[in-house]
Amino acid sequence: NSGLTVLGLETSCDETAASVVRRSADGRVEVLSSIVGTQFEQHAPFGGVVPEIAARAHVEVIDSVAAQAMRAAGIGYDALDGVAATAGPGLVGGVMVGLAFGKAVALARDLPLVAVNHLEGHAVSARLGAEIAYPFLLLLVSGGHCQLLEVGGVGACKRLGTTIDDAAGEAFDKIAKSLGLPYPGGPALEKLAKSGDASKYELPRALLGRKDCDFSFSGLKTAAARIAATLTTDQQRADLAAAVQFAIARQLSERTDRAMKLYAEGHAAGERRFVVAGGVAANGAVRAALLKVCEANGFSFDAPPLAYCTDNAAMIALAGAERLAAGISDDLDAVARPRWPL
Ligand code: KG4
Ligand code: ZN
Repeated sequence: NSGLTVLGLETSCDETAASVVRRSADGRVEVLSSIVGTQFEQHAPFGGVVPEIAARAHVEVIDSVAAQAMRAAGIGYDALDGVAATAGPGLVGGVMVGLAFGKAVALARDLPLVAVNHLEGHAVSARLGAEIAYPFLLLLVSGGHCQLLEVGGVGACKRLGTTIDDAAGEAFDKIAKSLGLPYPGGPALEKLAKSGDASKYELPRALLGRKDCDFSFSGLKTAAARIAATLTTDQQRADLAAAVQFAIARQLSERTDRAMKLYAEGHAAGERRFVVAGGVAANGAVRAALLKVCEANGFSFDAPPLAYCTDNAAMIALAGAERLAAGISDDLDAVARPRWPL
């Protein structure tokens, strides 16, 4: 058995992505190609992703992005063992584009189709960059997601916590906007925070009475926007940016600390692995806070290369390959699902 070679397709948000991944019979992973076409410029004038624009943009480029991925992998369609496409959750108009394209390839080439949950893709993505064994605890923090997951493999992810309002990246972006920073605001806010003093502003702590691993950022967003409207100097803006970054990093690390204690109840010391993925994992303050929690709880720390922790199709191809290896595939009538909790 020479393993499985899978074409992955991802169109659930504002990236049109295709990738070819090979998974050897003993589980080793090789990314043969990973093409990510961003629609950033089409959405930038609106300060956020516009679903209708996204769906149209996916339609326009999906075939050429897939062809590029095949060309870059240096293989023909006859070398594929399957096609994996994101089937949700996400902007449903976009999801339909990648899923329909995947179905067409599967039908035309007589290949099995895997309808992949985008979150399961993120869950396995750490394994694209390094040999990380299952199980592990994952904090997924991007513009669209904020979840703590216990990842035991495909079909074996357990959600320990999620956001009850905004994702962490969304909070960074919205607060950055109220500080007058350009979209996407996370990196800009981090830069501004460097010259700020976090102790100058007191910001609310969310869900104080609860003992679970859920997140909430709407109170922080409202409080920060109220303060931002009163600021007159650049130093004040930098101080607020630093306070916001501190508050977000604190919440992420506090909930991760709780999740580690829950996870540790059911897992041996050798399985205490922590992975952070998603665009917010690029934030230095967030990383530093998480590293501390890892040390305190005896967990290893991993953050996949940014190319694999932001939206991409290699993670979808890998989830598909691991599902196929486990004997799981989907019918050609698989539906696109805007909501699909793990
Ligand atoms: O994973 P990603 O590309 O996913 C989505 O498409 O949602 O993450 C993008 C998010 C944005 O909200 C962005 O502001 C945030 O990650 N982000 C950051 C940083 N770099 C990216 N947030 C804080 N600090 C950063 N350095
Ligand atoms: Zn994502």
